[in-house]
Amino acid sequence: MDKERKISKNKYRFVEPGDNYEDYSSGRVLYGAPGATNFSVRLISEIFQRCAEYLNSKGNSGPFVIYDPLCGAGYSLAVLGLLHGSSIKSIFASDVDSILLEFANKNLSLVNASGLDKRIEELKVFVEKYTKQSHKDALESAYRLRAKIASHSSIDERAFHADILDETLLPSFLLGVDIVITDLPYGKLTSWGGMGDDATATRTLLDKLHDRLHGPAIAAISSHKQQRLEYDADTYHEIMAFTLEKRNIVLLEPTGPPPTPTPPPH
Ligand SMILES: C[S@@+](CC[C@H](N)C(=O)[O-])C[C@H]1O[C@@H](n2cnc3c(N)ncnc32)[C@H](O)[C@@H]1O
Repeated sequence: MDKERKISKNKYRFVEPGDNYEDYSSGRVLYGAPGATNFSVRLISEIFQRCAEYLNSKGNSGPFVIYDPLCGAGYSLAVLGLLHGSSIKSIFASDVDSILLEFANKNLSLVNASGLDKRIEELKVFVEKYTKQSHKDALESAYRLRAKIASHSSIDERAFHADILDETLLPSFLLGVDIVITDLPYGKLTSWGGMGDDATATRTLLDKLHDRLHGPAIAAISSHKQQRLEYDADTYHEIMAFTLEKRNIVLLEPTGPPPTPTPPPH
């Protein structure tokens, strides 16, 4: 049975409107991939903090294991690692696109000191070689981010290939994910690879994720307003739904036993 959802308009609760996120811009310190979408920094931060608040209220105070099964170039997860690293233990990322995964690996490396130090060395070479203001700005941003992450412990991070719609099981190291945080493919830049409709695809995705989420845990799914999101009310319980920056976001908590897998959409 599908649950009818009421999505309410909402305001940012954790993020201040005037906050400056230029250090996190794609292509500055974080690597930008051709054809990859970049999620709003403000919005991903807000979603993460709402998830953390809910898990805290349920006695799970973190640090959290987070996973994006549609990670693209890993931009959102890398931003979270840089912004909220002290609340994060592990970051896992997967995608069906091998080229984007190469960027995801590079971006995730930046959430730890060793990766950011390497990036600083790379940017120093660019500054010397090309004397461009953009490289100087990127280097300044990298130093600021390096100072910011100095206080958090090292984060275990891994990006791997997985088709979230096929019948293979997700790897066993994913057992015990606290927060799945993801943005559904939409439009020309990213799609479900031509497989099925949104509703069937998201149902398959949520079914596949279910046994990797050990309560209290959350799946935070962001979609465009035009997209339909379906889930089985016996397997997920809706914690909240809100609309920000033209995205619908729903926070779901797994309930009950793992569902019988939905056949992959055709
Ligand atoms: C909206 S983008 C995600 C953006 C990403 N969260 C970020 O931070 O940049 C959606 C991603 O879903 C991936 N995708 C589409 N179908 C997939 C599937 N069946 N399994 C895994 N990934 C898939 C696409 O390759 C694309 O990178």
